[in-house]
Amino acid sequence: MKKLIIAASLAIIAIGAAHAAPPAAKKEGIESKDYKWNAQEGEKIEALTKKGDKKNGEEAYEVCGACHLPSGAGRTDGTFPQLAGQHSTVLIKQMADIRAGLRDNPTMYPFAATLTDAQELADVSAYIESLCIPVDHGKYDSKPLDSAKDWKAPADTAQQLAQGRELYEKECKTCHGANGEGVKDKFYPVIAGQHYKYLLRQMTEIRDGKRRNANPDMVSIIKKYDDKQLVAISAYQSSLVMPGNMCKPKAGAPAKKK
Ligand code: HEC
Ligand code: HEC
Repeated sequence: MKKLIIAASLAIIAIGAAHAAPPAAKKEGIESKDYKWNAQEGEKIEALTKKGDKKNGEEAYEVCGACHLPSGAGRTDGTFPQLAGQHSTVLIKQMADIRAGLRDNPTMYPFAATLTDAQELADVSAYIESLCIPVDHGKYDSKPLDSAKDWKAPADTAQQLAQGRELYEKECKTCHGANGEGVKDKFYPVIAGQHYKYLLRQMTEIRDGKRRNANPDMVSIIKKYDDKQLVAISAYQSSLVMPGNMCKPKAGAPAKKK
């Protein structure tokens, strides 16, 4: 009897620990020659082949709204990314990578772990993809969400946008699109509507090898950029809009696309 109780409590502790702590960071990622970017295996390929149920997804998303907000808008300070309207393929890839220890996200890991299986991953991704992209996100150098009346864009905004545009069109547009629309079946993320500060942080982390699941072609392009150039491209990216996918200004959340 006593043995049984011990075994049971150990099992509970084990389950608790599995949910609380991310798996040990894998060696794979951009640092390893053997790592194949976006390998189609495990729950990722399973989730990608399932049809997502938006209704179930909406329920599964409830726990996510605490950080990403019910609208999916995230936070202008860049701590939590904007998710609404992101391609379901990208959402599945990023979440499966986080769950598998290929992208570090200790803050979110325990919540990503609450998704029970590949079907729920597909469901929540279908739901998020169906949300319109909020238009009141953080721009250069971070317009507040509830836009304080006296907030003014920095004096060098036009100059940053122009420089950022030039760089973006030269080396990023082929994958992320003229309007920041990405490419769904290639796992290239939507950039339009993303917060300036989140973009800058991700680009810096991708350049510096800290986002280990990043596309190696993008890594080799971004390696040569200095911090100032990253500021300019992030400023430009946060100005992009995807016609037909954006929320109407001041629309109540969460609104559906079309
Ligand atoms: C405790 C806060 C928190 C909760 C709850 C949370 N997340 Fe996150 N999420 C984050 C943070 C922080 C990041 C950005 C991590 C980084 O900087 O790399 C993130 C990133 C993501 C990304 C990657 C976005 C991108 O553009 O690459 C996806 C997808 C995502 N979250 C989905 C979800 C889903 C779905 C849920 C609910 C199951 C969820 N998150 C719950 C904090 C949270
Ligand atoms: C070969 C295609 C490709 C090119 C070229 C490329 N990217 Fe990416 N980018 C990706 C992919 C794929 C991801 C998702 C990361 C991953 O592999 O999981 C990504 C991720 C990002 C992210 C993070 C988005 C998020 O939601 O977290 C930003 C920001 C970004 N790219 C900006 C750029 C910029 C700016 C350039 C040009 C300097 C660029 N990319 C060039 C494919 C590309």
